[in-house]
Amino acid sequence: MARILITSAIPYINGIKHLGNLVGSQLPADLFARYMRARGHEVMFICATDEHGTPAELAAAKAGKPVEDYCAEMHTVQADLAKGFRLSFDHFGRSSSERNRKLTQHFAGKLAENGYIEERAERQVYSIDDGRFLPDRYIEGTCPNCGYDRARGDQCENCTKQLDPTDLINPRSAISGSTNLEVRETKHLYLRQRALKDRIAAWIDSKTDWPILTTSIAKKWLNDGDGLQDRGITRDLYWGVPVMKGDQPWPGMEGKVFYVWFDAPIEYIAATAEWADKNGLDDAAWQRWWRNDKGAEDVTYYEFMGKDNVPFHTLSFPATILGSGEPWKLVDYLKSFNYLNYDGGQFSTSQGRGVFMDQALSILPADYWRWWLLSHAPESSDSEFTWENFQASVNKDLADVLGNFVSRVTKFAVSKFGNAVPAGGDYGPQEQALIEELTGRIRDYESFMQAMEVRKAATELRAIWVAGNEYLQAAAPWSAVKTDPARAEAIIRLGLNLIRLYAILSQPFIPDAAQAMMSALGSQDHTWSADVAQALDALPAGHGFAVPENLFRKITDEERADWQTRFGGIRS
Ligand code: 2FM
Ligand code: ZN
Repeated sequence: MARILITSAIPYINGIKHLGNLVGSQLPADLFARYMRARGHEVMFICATDEHGTPAELAAAKAGKPVEDYCAEMHTVQADLAKGFRLSFDHFGRSSSERNRKLTQHFAGKLAENGYIEERAERQVYSIDDGRFLPDRYIEGTCPNCGYDRARGDQCENCTKQLDPTDLINPRSAISGSTNLEVRETKHLYLRQRALKDRIAAWIDSKTDWPILTTSIAKKWLNDGDGLQDRGITRDLYWGVPVMKGDQPWPGMEGKVFYVWFDAPIEYIAATAEWADKNGLDDAAWQRWWRNDKGAEDVTYYEFMGKDNVPFHTLSFPATILGSGEPWKLVDYLKSFNYLNYDGGQFSTSQGRGVFMDQALSILPADYWRWWLLSHAPESSDSEFTWENFQASVNKDLADVLGNFVSRVTKFAVSKFGNAVPAGGDYGPQEQALIEELTGRIRDYESFMQAMEVRKAATELRAIWVAGNEYLQAAAPWSAVKTDPARAEAIIRLGLNLIRLYAILSQPFIPDAAQAMMSALGSQDHTWSADVAQALDALPAGHGFAVPENLFRKITDEERADWQTRFGGIRS
């Protein structure tokens, strides 16, 4: 039994995530966690909400709520949606937790002790009436390029010109509207990533089994242009982890917080500590996942994320860990994803374009979405959601292939032999051929799952379902029952056992349907068996079962057209 630590990139707190976000990290991470648990490994699967920074402050202000309340509410909303999608986190934490505050300050203190932090003086806009420095997005004014009067300090939304706050004509505070601004000198902390470049490069070079998408992005940022830059890790914001050197004040840093991207990945560790706290466990319980000196040496650590997150996880977070000089776990395997597009364009949170997690669950259960998203995961390139494709996959793979098999076998069994696994006949050459085919396919399925080749695993699983249908079609128990009832009993006995095997194999993709199949079969035995012949004998003759409710319904053309219109516009 191996010990497997899995983290999914932690979603920003401001707003409900769309299906593109979901398939880029949380959902494939869940697939992998479920698979590894099913194989009997000890798994720790961690996610959280990413709560700090300007976007959270601005979203809270827009909602007219104190940022603490806004984050608490949105955390519950996101946690409920995660449950709705059956994301099987061991803990869904919050980056605003006490644990993360302490750990973030701890890392900063260690980095400073080891000489990896530099203080730099900068000139920044200060709002006298607001009593604070204004980060770029908090300053508005007239664009010097096009005259647009609501340009932001970092960029003009109208003509897209990149700006410095000091470029704006008639600048004003986006918080209060005050024009009582001045440029003041302020100090910020920089993480000296350049000083760690050689160690990071050597570490990335040692990862020869990483996907090309991951290493190509990492190497680009490591070597392109000026290469790895030192990075500002503090901000003049109210909402964030207060800058401290361990548990000591940091002179000159009063009123400042750490940059959101500094504390967010540390939350992976902190959330595991939150998990221990919630379960009444001691520090040793979470440290054995994260500290090589406390038992984590034999843990294999996998991270899942969209491609835009790769630089932070291959360069900055490792810089934090290496620079701390402490034996924290570094990622062993980093699985990254391209983007999922939506019906000829992009999913967009800021524009409300696409299908969002709450909307998806309001029209169909989680399994439908899980299946489509995972079987179309944007691995080797970007992929696209279209309603036509979604309808076709659901109707074909789930309803026609899997659902139909389960319903045909169970209904026929009950009508001819009653509610118990029939005893007659023996498995013959047709069954042997099926067992051989399934044995090969299941080995391939396992290899793809182990390698996190999500699409290939889905393709193999679908082929495993198809093999059962083809067997049933060829064996034709509805004909056999007329001439050789014992033969029909053997076919149906195999069919019922195959449903159980399908439930076990499919559970990582479609957990609810798998559960429904297991309940109908009255089986609690979820053992992942290497021996297909044995698995197809698991339910003995006489074992009671029921016909499950229809597992999957088809999507009609009217529904598709309706959803296409409903979700074609912009979410308000
Ligand atoms: O891109 C995002 O959604 C970020 N909130 C991901 C953060 S992952 C991490 F570092 F914790
Ligand atoms: Zn402009």
